[in-house]
Amino acid sequence: MASPLRRHAKLWIPLAFIAAAAVAVWFVAVPAESDGDPDYRDPTLPVAERVADLLDRMTIEEKAGQMTQVAVDAVQGDAVAERGIGSLLNGGSDALHDTPEDWAAMIDGRQEQALDTRLGIPLIYGLDAVHGNASLPGATIFPHNIGLGAAGDPDLTERAAQITAAETRVAGVHWTFSPCLCVVRDSRWGRTYESFGEDPELVSQMATAVTGYQGEDLSADTSVLATAKHYVGDGGTAYGTSETEDYLLDQGVAELSEAELRRLHLAPFEAAVDAGVGSVMVSYSSNDLGDGPIKAHADSYLITDVLKGELGFDGIVLSDWQGVDQISLDYAESVRTAINAGIDMVMVPFEYERFIDTLLDEVEAGHIGTDRIDDAVDRILTKKFELGLFEDPYADTGNADLVGSPEHRAVAREAAAASQVLLQNDGDLLPLTGEESLYIAGSGADALGRQLGGWSGAWQGTVEGVGEGTTVLEGIQEAAPGADVEFSEDASAPVVDRDVGIVVVAEDPYAEGVGDAGAGDHDMRLSGVDAAAVDTVCGAMDCAVIVLSGRPIEIGADRLDAIDALVAAWLPGSEGTGVADPLFGVTPYTGTLPVTWPARVSDEPVNVGDPDYDPLFAYGSGIQT
Ligand code: BGC
Ligand code: BGC
Repeated sequence: MASPLRRHAKLWIPLAFIAAAAVAVWFVAVPAESDGDPDYRDPTLPVAERVADLLDRMTIEEKAGQMTQVAVDAVQGDAVAERGIGSLLNGGSDALHDTPEDWAAMIDGRQEQALDTRLGIPLIYGLDAVHGNASLPGATIFPHNIGLGAAGDPDLTERAAQITAAETRVAGVHWTFSPCLCVVRDSRWGRTYESFGEDPELVSQMATAVTGYQGEDLSADTSVLATAKHYVGDGGTAYGTSETEDYLLDQGVAELSEAELRRLHLAPFEAAVDAGVGSVMVSYSSNDLGDGPIKAHADSYLITDVLKGELGFDGIVLSDWQGVDQISLDYAESVRTAINAGIDMVMVPFEYERFIDTLLDEVEAGHIGTDRIDDAVDRILTKKFELGLFEDPYADTGNADLVGSPEHRAVAREAAAASQVLLQNDGDLLPLTGEESLYIAGSGADALGRQLGGWSGAWQGTVEGVGEGTTVLEGIQEAAPGADVEFSEDASAPVVDRDVGIVVVAEDPYAEGVGDAGAGDHDMRLSGVDAAAVDTVCGAMDCAVIVLSGRPIEIGADRLDAIDALVAAWLPGSEGTGVADPLFGVTPYTGTLPVTWPARVSDEPVNVGDPDYDPLFAYGSGIQT
């Protein structure tokens, strides 16, 4: 029997002619310059048209590459070009660089590889500039969000974000994974300081950070793409429900009704979408709305129906770092579930070959629809066009000297001062005149790193700190040059002949689950050294205690009686001068508590509006001077 091929051989000859003719007609019909000068390269066309044109030209491999975000130091050889990787990030474990020019050169080198591909689609580069571009030595570092929540000034939050954006883009970075619009409901959470506060209304007001980062025009050399994170419910997890033993709240499970999830945790994302936020990062945590926990990374209802559908979010949904891997032990199932849930780009961040190959297999097998892929890539390309990356793919370091400039530091100082919350002021001890003789002690008095906290030069931060800034001690010396200052960190110097003591107590830096109270070294109590310093100093003279911390800490009732003035200073950033300003009346105390301050750690969770609410210092407390 003749093979089907042979049987149709006669038909093939005319078919080949028709095909050849069709190709010829196509070449004549399509304007000659279209290939050398495709529509997607034409900046005069609307972004949507450019995206559609580019999408049409892309292979499925190129699309899969765009959906891939890799930690920069994990990239092997020419992988950016070979696999068409769409995005790189600096994770806390990737190398840092000393100057804006060094950063830009590193990123430009990767960009060159991206442009050296068939379609030349530029890379988008991201990192966590969450309170300033703290990966860049010399950058201006603002108070962490908890302090900005205490300041309660949406305009100030916006200005801080603007400065961060400028100091980030000038180093060649296009995208910040900030703001955290998490609503912290239990301060034992190690990420409490990344939250603007416990009240969704306050957190929603701070969505001005989005407009600060993104500016009027994303393509401006002072704008970066913002990320509202972590969607959704990250601050609402219940203590002790996490499957992993050492992470108590971080990455845990929020158990609440859908109505409560919406009221407490979704609301700020609505504000961010209204402000035009370009990306949303999914939370490691799970939500249990009554039918058992579902990982946010697997939740198509919350991502596709609610965020993209109901809220109308049209930007990029980004996974968290290895967040997709946590869905299932079966990697193909993880990838399929995450992409079908509506995640557009995956922060892989290491095994990108495995991710791309798995994604391609799942598409090939029909488990992920090509429409879903096109939707994801459409969203990613749209932001790349809006950022102007097709026109200006390389960094512009022309304004590098704005990094850490006096103008920028003045705003960080203003923000630090506005974030100070005066909780107790017996006998109106504060403000001081600046003419006193002062005894200064405490682990936070002269330690930049304890002012900066986590996400500062290193994922977990460091006690030594990074970059340039003034410590609280230096700030005091600057604000009160007439004061006679004796400094003894552990209060071992004799406490005689001094008018006033100032003890700056502090938490050591931490980030994420490491900071969960009970998970390790961090327990929300005064360290032994700081407690002893407070007891020594406050036992001998009038004293003010300044608390540098990411959250309320337990002070103890007796100790509180011995303290005259108590100030919550949060994690004020690089400008210790801002802590000193209200201390000496240069500015008034205006901050108010963005979270409830309980008497004991074991009183957590406690939030304004709870039945029988009777904490040590209520939400909104703050003596105004
Ligand atoms: C954090 C994110 C962060 C990402 C990249 C994750 O561990 O949860 O907030 O943006 O790492 O560093
Ligand atoms: C990375 C961080 C990341 C974290 C996630 C660290 O190794 O450096 O960027 O957020 O892991 O757990």
